[in-house]
Amino acid sequence: MTEKRNTYKAQKRTDYKAPNFTAVDIDLTFTLDDTHTIVKNVTTFKRLTSDTKAPLVLNGEDLKLNYVKVDGIEAKYKDVKNGIEISSVPDEFTVELENVINPSENSSLMGLYKSNGTFCTQCEPEGFRRITYSLDRSDVLAKYRVTIIGPEYGCGVLLSNGNLIERGTRKNRPYAVWEDPFPKPSYLFALVAGTFDIVSDTFTTMSRRKVALELYVDRGSYDRGLWAMQSIKDSMKWDEDRWGLEFDLDNFKVVAVDFFNFGAMENKGLNVFNSVYVMVDPTCATDTAFYNVQSVIGHEYFHNYTGDRVTLRDWFQLSLKESLTVFRDQEFSSDVANRALTRLHAINVIRGPQFAEDASPMAHPVRPEEVMEMNNFYTVTIYDKGAEIIRMIHTLIGESRFKKALNDYLRKFDGQAVTIEDFLCCFEESAGVDLSQFRRWYTQAGTPHVKASWTYDEANKNLVLKLTQHTNPTRDQKEKEPFYMPIRLSFLDKDGHDVHPAELSSDGFIIFNENEQEYRFTLDKDTFPVILRDFSAPVKLDAPYTMEQLQHMLSFCDDAFIKVDCATTMQNRYVHDNLEIAAAEGVLREPAELIASYKSILDSVDAQSDLILINETLKIQSIANLMETFDKINIDAIKYAHDALETKVAVSLVNEFVQLYGKIKASSSNYSVTDMGRRALNNLALHMIAVAKCAMDKKTEASEIVFNHYNGSKNMTDKLQAMTDAVHLDLDCKSEILKSFEKDWSKDALVFDNFFRVQATVPNKSAIDNVKKLLSHPSFDGRNPNRVRALTGALALSNPVALNDISGEGYDLLCKQITELNDINPSVAARILTPLLSFRRLDEKRQGMILNNLNSLMQMPKLSRSIYEKVSTALK
Ligand code: ARG
Ligand code: ZN
Repeated sequence: MTEKRNTYKAQKRTDYKAPNFTAVDIDLTFTLDDTHTIVKNVTTFKRLTSDTKAPLVLNGEDLKLNYVKVDGIEAKYKDVKNGIEISSVPDEFTVELENVINPSENSSLMGLYKSNGTFCTQCEPEGFRRITYSLDRSDVLAKYRVTIIGPEYGCGVLLSNGNLIERGTRKNRPYAVWEDPFPKPSYLFALVAGTFDIVSDTFTTMSRRKVALELYVDRGSYDRGLWAMQSIKDSMKWDEDRWGLEFDLDNFKVVAVDFFNFGAMENKGLNVFNSVYVMVDPTCATDTAFYNVQSVIGHEYFHNYTGDRVTLRDWFQLSLKESLTVFRDQEFSSDVANRALTRLHAINVIRGPQFAEDASPMAHPVRPEEVMEMNNFYTVTIYDKGAEIIRMIHTLIGESRFKKALNDYLRKFDGQAVTIEDFLCCFEESAGVDLSQFRRWYTQAGTPHVKASWTYDEANKNLVLKLTQHTNPTRDQKEKEPFYMPIRLSFLDKDGHDVHPAELSSDGFIIFNENEQEYRFTLDKDTFPVILRDFSAPVKLDAPYTMEQLQHMLSFCDDAFIKVDCATTMQNRYVHDNLEIAAAEGVLREPAELIASYKSILDSVDAQSDLILINETLKIQSIANLMETFDKINIDAIKYAHDALETKVAVSLVNEFVQLYGKIKASSSNYSVTDMGRRALNNLALHMIAVAKCAMDKKTEASEIVFNHYNGSKNMTDKLQAMTDAVHLDLDCKSEILKSFEKDWSKDALVFDNFFRVQATVPNKSAIDNVKKLLSHPSFDGRNPNRVRALTGALALSNPVALNDISGEGYDLLCKQITELNDINPSVAARILTPLLSFRRLDEKRQGMILNNLNSLMQMPKLSRSIYEKVSTALK
């Protein structure tokens, strides 16, 4: 028998049709069983269309249907593609049906599945149809009542959205009944059942209502949940203080599960989290992990308004809730943790993965026009570029008008499923702003390139600033119209003072919205412009600063992004200027200006300095971000120049780093923003010392100091830095540290993921062998997404050097893993496939090898829709 090749069809945004029916009340009864869960579903429907002949079509996938009744009478139904059709139904009626599912077999982790002993659900975007038959679309909002009957072997915790109405035991089985007072789309439904430790607390809202808070974590891990609980309370307080938004239910529940495809999910009143974004304590998690827990807890909580109370009309509008919620979580982290650090992280996401996506065949507008598999569109473009767009609106209208418009939007559309267009119209009206040209940010894919230049007009004492913009064509659009963007500006004089010319508004930005524009400012001759402060628009800026001007800005500018960017620009120029020599593996010159700037920073560091900012400035940027500064990628030359740059900085400043190391001590091994800065800088010093010693033929000394660092601290941030340096620099202490880490943590999956990640990210070919070996490590589990992301995922997404090794072994290994994952978990498979799509930016040899692999992926039997969409798009 020859298997029919799968092909899938794309949906178009403009094909949206309002539903013929809506669901009003949904009453679900789950009789849980590992392999044979019975779902009884009683839903009342109402016809919305005037076409009285229109049949009811319900979505359902991989379900076994026992019976269907309409108004109590067994009904005939027809199997249609991914669902059933029931014809001749009245205008209002009740459907009762029963279906069976198998949670244990569900390795896709969409729908109801068993994760490490826990039943849990993931319904966004279209997982509810894998639980029961329904109108599984975001514009059908219904009230839910959910009865959960625990499995025969018993189970302590049975949760769903909303309020607990009843609980007890029936026929020796525990049961619980939940009712959610807010109508919601099916994608926000959740069910969790299992055995947990519970961290309980309360939050008193601004109108003095008491909300019960419950955080469910693995048995025995109570303490690791405390920071997440604190973060819940901080999020609730912040949403009230900054936007006046008060929580709307009597209880709020968060559950940590071990097997999860994404970060977390904002199900109404019952957020479900990947345990990596919940479980932290200083001995098992890094400072970054603490910071991320706070931010993701915030993100999901903030969805309660931006996403749950006001939801999406259809999935093309995804960015409506995600961009606004990312903007909100970034502001939260800025206010409660550190603004500069939060901004710099966000900018790195844009300039790394987002620019890469814009330059790839999967480039798409923030509001996409065509989608085959929605799971492929939870992207850095939809989320992070979307958040930059919201930030630009915030810049344009200012905080107070933004706050008013946000509240108007939430009031006007409360309980509705709306579009990005609704949002924009509401903001235009409320803030009194015209966003017509600004809308191009939602309709045009691709990164705008902005070129700046300036001259001095002696006669008029004017600095004349000229800006041009150009956006490369993307597959979907050949012609690009100019974008409307705020460019934040300031001016520095030769003494490093800020000068504010009369022509610059007090907000400090200009509007740039044509292909070419000129601006005049009355200024002295040796004053020059600081352009794109705070990265006020998500563009690639090309400005002809001299090295002296970059050094001057680095010393005197008061904007965190500009400071760090000056160092980054010096690094970029070094790599670009030396690329040819690097390609020939020649001898590169010293990065003298960068070293001079770094030396003056290092000479003046003390306990009073902004250590977080200094650390960000001193970092040598990743190879991945460097790659995004090139159109065509010569990976070997970039790696060679990157390493030379880092080594030269390290060797020239080794005395300064030795001086710094150990000088600024964290006050304790607990997490705090201040200590995070101290540890970060100290760990950077360690890294640079180790790099320098290796280059100076003193590898034994490097090993010694790294080994002592590992053993001298109980804090995971420190331990992980030492382990990374030991493994990546191949130091003598490597195997001892790995052994000790394995002994301490192999039973602790989240922590042990680091053991895999560190070895998969060695920046050379040996990482491929490491990954091959670790695939058969006793605790590797291809069904656990975190483990897959820590091993194959790390090779694919965090190790461009090994992945692109000229042997082609990286590609072969990755595609072999993707083939296996295609059946197990298509979402995860499609995610780690991403870097291969950009093969056309590489040299011909590598292009050929990737092409072969992509072609064989296309031949795979039962090719999933996720992979089909990405690979076929790349091959077009
Ligand atoms: N809405 C979730 C969040 O960002 C993410 C859900 C991801 N789902 C997916 N199918 N990729 O908070
Ligand atoms: Zn989200």
